[in-house]
Amino acid sequence: MASVCIRPANVLRTAARRIQRTGPKFTPVQAASYSLLARSAPANCSRQPTAAPTRGVKTLDFAGTKEVVYERSDWPLSKLQDYFKNDTLALIGYGSQGHGQGLNARDNGLNVIVGVRKDGESWRQAEQDGWVRVPGETLFPIEEAINRGTIIMNLLSDAAQSATWPTVAPLITKGKTLYFSHGFSIVFKDLTHVVPPKDVDVILVAPKGSGRTVRTLFKEGRGINSSVAVFQDVTGKALEKAVALGVAVGSGYMYETTFEKEVYSDLYGERGVLMGAIQGLFCAQYKVLRANGHTPSEAFNETVEEATQSLYPLIGEKGMDYMYNACSTTARRGALDWAPIFEKTNLPVFEKLYQSVRDGTETRKSLEFNGRSTYRQDLAKELKEIDDQEIWRAGKTVRSLRPDYKGE
Ligand SMILES: NC(=O)c1ccc[n+]([C@@H]2O[C@H](COP(=O)([O-])OP(=O)(O)OC[C@H]3O[C@@H](n4cnc5c(N)ncnc54)[C@H](OP(=O)(O)O)[C@@H]3O)[C@@H](O)[C@H]2O)c1
Repeated sequence: MASVCIRPANVLRTAARRIQRTGPKFTPVQAASYSLLARSAPANCSRQPTAAPTRGVKTLDFAGTKEVVYERSDWPLSKLQDYFKNDTLALIGYGSQGHGQGLNARDNGLNVIVGVRKDGESWRQAEQDGWVRVPGETLFPIEEAINRGTIIMNLLSDAAQSATWPTVAPLITKGKTLYFSHGFSIVFKDLTHVVPPKDVDVILVAPKGSGRTVRTLFKEGRGINSSVAVFQDVTGKALEKAVALGVAVGSGYMYETTFEKEVYSDLYGERGVLMGAIQGLFCAQYKVLRANGHTPSEAFNETVEEATQSLYPLIGEKGMDYMYNACSTTARRGALDWAPIFEKTNLPVFEKLYQSVRDGTETRKSLEFNGRSTYRQDLAKELKEIDDQEIWRAGKTVRSLRPDYKGE
């Protein structure tokens, strides 16, 4: 990317102008990756986006399978801003993704507005983040935001996407782009009744992580991995737009997929190893230790603390074999023997889970539960039950002994 040239002062001025336009209470987050890139680029280069050559699509070999990957470095900040100069990104919903994606796109100097139901929890949070309510500013009721937007980023909860669709659908008029971060509403249309109009591009950017991580990685100058997909391409530019939006909201690398593949893998993964299975395994291991007379601290340290603080980061850094190699030969022998037993035991559970995702059971449950008006309180109650489990209460004390402990 040595030949990608951006004049930093111009870029920052452009960003500042847009910041003014999009929200007076906003404090620029100059730790944002693109701001840093803009600052460090050579000053004697043309700012014309067209002058910035791109590396284009990358095809990489993933364990013998060739896959397409798009990267942020193909979208220098000036090119990104130029691409969206006539657009208003209307972010509908301000949960975890709305927060992360919205703030990142705003910091990237794009024209972003937020639409949420008035006086709900999200409205309050959006105001705290500097989205402003005064007419003509950046925070609106949902319908008004959609009317003002050209790119409608539907980041309501999946259940709310379905519940609000009868109101939202007529507002998605020709020329707008409909954006999702999950294939849920579109793929399970028989349950959600979300069927987009035929004359708009329908695209997806699904960050592979919580919206909080989307934001943190962006502020650190890194980017999150995201999936990108196109459901409907009316303009012939849908994929390009999806990739550009992926960059805008804070992605570093984007992996091409389909709406179907995204929703099946995502619903499966979060119920599996990412969340459901990990809580289940932690609890099972902890319970057996406790039943055999081990103290809570010993059971917690041997189950969660060592996993999250020592071993899982090693897997993240260089893979499973690297983590195994970092452990004693005694540990390696036992783990090598027991891994296939856990795999064999769990395989039928994972097969059942995938089936439950494919046949819509998981979607039905999610729509029913998260469609309730009390969904926040109901979820909070169940999460409180987890927090009250002995394993996690023991964990609080273990964490409080860390040298860098700052309270919870
Ligand atoms: N979180 C993740 O890790 C993640 C990762 C990748 C993709 N995604 C996808 O990103 C999208 C957004 O997810 P999220 O986690 O950011 O949000 P979420 O927590 O699932 O949804 C929160 C938003 O939905 C609104 N909402 C809920 N019920 C509503 C209703 N009946 N009418 C109007 N608004 C309603 C909330 O507003 P109120 O505050 O007013 O209730 C809030 O703004 C989803 O499609 C999700 O699958 C999420």
